[in-house]
Amino acid sequence: MIFRQLFEPETSTYTYLLGCPRTRRAILIDTVASEVEHYLALLDTLQLRLVYTLETHVHADHVTGAGLLRERVGSKAVVHRDAGAPCADLMVTNGVVLETGDLELEVRHTPGHTSGCVSYVMADRVFTGDALLIGGCGRTDFQQGDAGQLYDSISRQLFTLPPDTLVYPGHDYQGHTVSTIRQEMQQNARLGGGRTRDEFIAIMRQLNLPYPKHIDAALPANQACGLGGSQVRQG
Ligand code: FE2
Repeated sequence: MIFRQLFEPETSTYTYLLGCPRTRRAILIDTVASEVEHYLALLDTLQLRLVYTLETHVHADHVTGAGLLRERVGSKAVVHRDAGAPCADLMVTNGVVLETGDLELEVRHTPGHTSGCVSYVMADRVFTGDALLIGGCGRTDFQQGDAGQLYDSISRQLFTLPPDTLVYPGHDYQGHTVSTIRQEMQQNARLGGGRTRDEFIAIMRQLNLPYPKHIDAALPANQACGLGGSQVRQG
């Protein structure tokens, strides 16, 4: 498999490129609109054809490049059915397996940060979006967030994966790039070491995070696959 972990520094977002060496088909997970030219150049360099852009959820902090990429190369935008993004080409639900070339990703519904959050499991790794972060998790105080639901999602859908499964998150703010399910089960500050559901809910309630900077522009834009307004096209 061809694999690249790409980083957008302004919002500390990770985007993942997956490519099938046999068929040259490719998938991008969680693109950022301002990086579209970079993705297209990379796809060209690696001689890959972009088939799908996958969202782990409707983002509040950055605008997706899914709509722009669809216009440029005809890729199909994929989101969960509950994400509230009717612009998408494919609405997925828990257990759906997405295939292109020899790439195969299983959708796991992991709500709690938002109601339409999914993680994508692929062979030895899982792309967790903002559900499970390295040492932490996504916030649960807006966008239908629900701490109890996030605890259930992570413990039932992610912590049941083989312990050596690699965890690739949607963001990291400290420069961490990858973790494992075992590491998060043992050391995650909010969920690790056998924390109970009630303890987790109490931790999340006490966070008192500031209102996200870009949410008012990013949410409507992302519900339109990143093509929702003039400011969006400039990234
Ligand atoms: Fe998010």
